[in-house]
Amino acid sequence: MPPSPIKVLAISGSLRKASYNTAALRAAQELAPEGMTIDIASIAGISFYNGDVQAEGFPAAVTALGEAIRAADALLIASPEYNYSTSGVLKNTIDWLSRLPDQPFAGKPVAMIGASMSLLGGARAQYHLRQMFVFLDAFPVNKPEVFIAQAQNRFDAEGRLTDEGTRGFVRKLLESLAAWTLKLKAAPPA
Ligand code: FNR
Repeated sequence: MPPSPIKVLAISGSLRKASYNTAALRAAQELAPEGMTIDIASIAGISFYNGDVQAEGFPAAVTALGEAIRAADALLIASPEYNYSTSGVLKNTIDWLSRLPDQPFAGKPVAMIGASMSLLGGARAQYHLRQMFVFLDAFPVNKPEVFIAQAQNRFDAEGRLTDEGTRGFVRKLLESLAAWTLKLKAAPPA
């Protein structure tokens, strides 16, 4: 029997064209297990959160991203680490999405990747994201944790993930995400 199809929506917390985190998501597209498809959403059009703007109606970009998250079976988030936390643009996007009615993260399986130029590979940013997902009622994959340390040595000049060990970790993370997604679908937590 072919594996169940799993639709994953991926979000990068970096807007930079040559972002290692966005490049890691492109690598994930190549490494996805059979049956899994990964679409990368852009958060470049999301404005700063402002409650006055929200009071007049959610911006179209926020509503559209919320719908895309609801339509996905699972999420994959790649975040840089800025000053020991996630990037401001990603936090701002999560803040907007968290105010939507029918909050889109609730009940979603989420896998995380971090890429940074330091030795810790964005671990501190990822733990802050996990903390946010508690409040948002999302279900993060616990292991493997994928921290792409010294990212400048693991991608080539075209942004291709060339480090075989890291490719293996990303593959394992996606396999865990697939198993976790199917498990939650079969027996959704109350
Ligand atoms: C950084 N960087 C960084 N790295 C890290 O490991 N821990 C940190 O706290 C920070 N802080 C930080 C703050 C700001 C404002 C910037 C711009 C950068 C370095 C960061 O990991 C590196 O620039 C990555 O390459 C950013 O990810 P992308 O854009 O390549 O995906």
